[in-house]
Amino acid sequence: MYNAEPHSAITDARVATVIARLQVTRPSPARGLRGNPPMSRDPQDYAEQGFSIHPEQGELIYLLCRGLRARRVAEFATSVGMSTLYFAAAMRDNGGGTVIGSEIVPAKVATAKRNLAEAGLADYAEIREGDARKTLRDLGGPVDFILIDGWPGDKGPTLARQVIEIVAPQLRVGGYVMNDNAEADFLEFVRDPQNGFVSITLPLKGGTELCLKVA
Ligand SMILES: C[S@@+](CC[C@H](N)C(=O)[O-])C[C@H]1O[C@@H](n2cnc3c(N)ncnc32)[C@H](O)[C@@H]1O
Repeated sequence: MYNAEPHSAITDARVATVIARLQVTRPSPARGLRGNPPMSRDPQDYAEQGFSIHPEQGELIYLLCRGLRARRVAEFATSVGMSTLYFAAAMRDNGGGTVIGSEIVPAKVATAKRNLAEAGLADYAEIREGDARKTLRDLGGPVDFILIDGWPGDKGPTLARQVIEIVAPQLRVGGYVMNDNAEADFLEFVRDPQNGFVSITLPLKGGTELCLKVA
């Protein structure tokens, strides 16, 4: 019989407690951040808001990273560390590894570090403070998984597109990219066969692109 109660792969109580707290205290989304005309799009104006991934996305990240035996993964961006917690838990449960985070708002870096420490996962994360277009240029070797969970820019290529162009060459064949916001120019990149990906749209959080590097 189908059991509708969602089951979690995260069995560590400390990790689950921090994730549950972030879920419960998640503020409702800032109105109009992606609207036209937008409210402020300056990330510094949203130091208190996580804009975090949803648990079903995090669970999938955890599971795929376990399956890949992932040891080095990266994310744009970290915010308060919700996605970082799932990645770091997978690194620890794989026997060791690092999630390389990126975040431009210093207060969020501090919050993410506190959340990781409370979950007992501080040793499995390196949060790089600053503009991800600089901080993710050198990931120190091939990575197994990259989350592109970006931010609306003003004009020109989106941040998601700019960052995927920087990090895609650093992803190993057989590795995954997950994208949360379905930026059109990001989708154009991963759906162009010349860039070496195959991708599908999953019905998570209104459409989550999961991309596999095949060449
Ligand atoms: C959607 S949130 C990330 C949520 C996070 N993955 C989670 O699950 O909690 C996007 C984040 O990007 C950050 N950001 C915006 N522009 C950035 C940039 N150029 N470099 C690094 N971080 C940036 C924002 O401050 C914001 O916290």
